[in-house]
Parts: sequence; C-alpha cells; structure tokens
Amino acid sequence: MVSSPLIVANWKMHKTVRQSIAFARELLRRRDEIPPGIQEVICPTLPALYSVSQVLAWSGIQTGAQTLDLGREGANTGAVSAFLVRETGAAFVILGHSERRNLYGEDDALVAEKTRSALDAHLIPIICVGESPEERKRGRTDAVIRHQVRAVVEGLTERTTTALVFAYEPLWAIGTGQVPEPDEANRVARLARTVVHETTPQFDSDLRILYGGSVNAGNASGFANAPEIDGALVGGASLDINQWIGLNIAW
Ligand code: G3P
Repeated sequence: MVSSPLIVANWKMHKTVRQSIAFARELLRRRDEIPPGIQEVICPTLPALYSVSQVLAWSGIQTGAQTLDLGREGANTGAVSAFLVRETGAAFVILGHSERRNLYGEDDALVAEKTRSALDAHLIPIICVGESPEERKRGRTDAVIRHQVRAVVEGLTERTTTALVFAYEPLWAIGTGQVPEPDEANRVARLARTVVHETTPQFDSDLRILYGGSVNAGNASGFANAPEIDGALVGGASLDINQWIGLNIAW
C-alpha cells in the first residue's frame, strides 16, 4: 500500500562486530545493484549497531535494533532503552518477535509498552505478529492476528501513530523454508491493516505491513506482487551479501 518497499534484515544473534562492519561496507560498495526506491534496514546485534550505523550513515540505508528495554536511564543493569538505541543512529526497532515472545516471555502487554517507548524516542517499531503451527491447525490465525495487533494499537494516541510497521511472521514459516501462499499472506496483511484502522480510526499516516518467514530471492517476487504487503522481514537470507542483494533485486 505504501509505494517504496521496506526490506529489513534481522541478523538475530549472528555475526561478530567485525563481520557486521565488513557486510555494511560491502553493501555500500555494491549499492548500485539494489533497485532504486527500495528502503533497506539492517538490524545487527546490539554490540555492532553503533558501528554499522556509522558505516551506513548518510547512505540512505537505515539501521535498527532487535529489541529494547523499558525506561530511559537508571539502575537497570543490562538494559538498553529506546533512547539509547536511538543514540546509536538506529531509526527502527523490531518488537514482539516470536523468539522474544517464546524465549524471553514477552507478552502482548509488554510489546505494547515497548512500542510506546519506541515511538516516544522517535524510533519506528516493526511489530511482529503471527500464529503458531498449532493455532494455524486449529483455524485460529485470524483471531491471533486480531488480538496481537489490537493489543499494540489500543494504547496509542493519534500523536504516536505517525509511523508504524507490522510484520506478519507465521511461526511455522520462520527458518523452515515453508512459506504461505502469497495470497494467504496478503489476506492476513489486509486483516492486520483493517484491525489498525478499526482500533485507531484517526490513523492516516504510513502504516506498513511486511511479510516475514523464509523469504529468499526465489520466493520474494510472489510477496512483492501482493498488494497489501509493503516489504519483508528477512532472517537467514539477510546474512549473506549475495543472497541479500539477490532478494532485493527479486523484490
Ligand atoms: O525476523 C525474521 C525471521 O524471523 C524470519 O527468519 O530465517 O525464516 O527468514 P527467516
């Protein structure tokens, strides 16, 4: 729905700082291979985020964190607030990824709070939603998406809904090589968009819905052609520079 596609690399807990910087430099060197109009976002590990943001500064390629912690500053050992993420030069933050929900017990309420915190710090949140294999089998996909999207947008005011990104990532498609039919991903993306509009009717700015889960150069064009899908959130295929560039070209 938004004209320029947003293609986001989620490196998860991969790459050393040196490898991350080397990738960013190589990406700059091969910048011309990326079709014009694509907005790339690289989300490295937190220790690499500042350096990667520095390498990519002014290039038009943006960076993001993979999570954040609540609060601003204080006695919170180990925590990294939205404001500190913003300080690195990052413009985005991935929130509510299923790995955070499952491995670290993040629930809808926490994802909603983190979203508000990100928006307050002028970070654009990329909020992940998606059903588990069991929920899919039980025909619960739509109910899960409705619930997860509503939980986040319910607490937002008009002021904070200036830029919001949701990523539909069905859990059974993450790292498995299995993908939904683009028509099905398109239908769920439309549902997520509808829920946002139903919940915050004043919403009128650039809401983007991405698809994530085993996206690669071979299947990207199917999702790119889906009218409700504005880009991709990419794990495995974002770790190798050739696959990453290939995927961007295929989109
Ligand atoms: O956030 C992206 C991710 O969960 C999808 O991972 O490896 O299936 O592209 P992958």
